[in-house]
Amino acid sequence: MEVFDAVVERRSIRMFKDKPVDYAILERCVDAARLAPSAMNSQLNEYVIVDDTRLLAEVLDSVSLWGGVTKPEGGWTPEKKPVAYIIVLINLELEKERGCGRSNTFLDIGLAMENMVLVALEQGVGTCIMTGIDKKRIGEIINAPKKFEVAALLALGYPDEKIVLETTFHSVKRWVDEEGVRHVPKRKLEDILYRNRFE
Ligand SMILES: Cc1cc2nc3c(=O)[nH]c(=O)nc-3n(C[C@H](O)[C@H](O)[C@H](O)COP(=O)(O)O)c2cc1C
Repeated sequence: MEVFDAVVERRSIRMFKDKPVDYAILERCVDAARLAPSAMNSQLNEYVIVDDTRLLAEVLDSVSLWGGVTKPEGGWTPEKKPVAYIIVLINLELEKERGCGRSNTFLDIGLAMENMVLVALEQGVGTCIMTGIDKKRIGEIINAPKKFEVAALLALGYPDEKIVLETTFHSVKRWVDEEGVRHVPKRKLEDILYRNRFE
């Protein structure tokens, strides 16, 4: 798969088949994250793969924002839920020792996560990056030692939804049509790209 095609094809997936993802694929994603660029090569991130059924339910319950929807009172009851998660941690001891500021820490996390997303996609696995999560609760679920801060969550599974890109951009709002297809608007290239300097 060409890199650009992968970038075009990638969409945030939130509906998944009831089919497990091999641990080897999840491990390969983390390996790709390991190789991502990081400020001063600081490599502050560590990862927890969650694929145990009981823990999956607990992690799902700690997601507070799902596709723009706030967690309902009774919790989530999706039929097509993720079959695995990768939790991205910041090693605070390493951050203190080698960190280059919080903004770089989070830039690094973004890059590591995109590596995981693209490697998963290559294996036919869909993903959704999530920060609308109860980080403290996730830390408790995985029994994270004090030196770790939960930074983000990657939900994974085999996609079971159709998503199309829209190039006409009026708002950031995504929508689902009567056939269940999710539409994701993106800004046009000519609206965001400038050359050399502003007039
Ligand atoms: C930093 C970050 C945080 C996100 N947090 C959430 C989240 O908490 N819940 C969710 O459902 N989607 C989340 N997303 C996915 C975005 O909603 C999604 O990327 C956006 O709607 C564009 O869709 P696309 O990824 O298909 O291009 C997040 C994405 C990023 C990059």
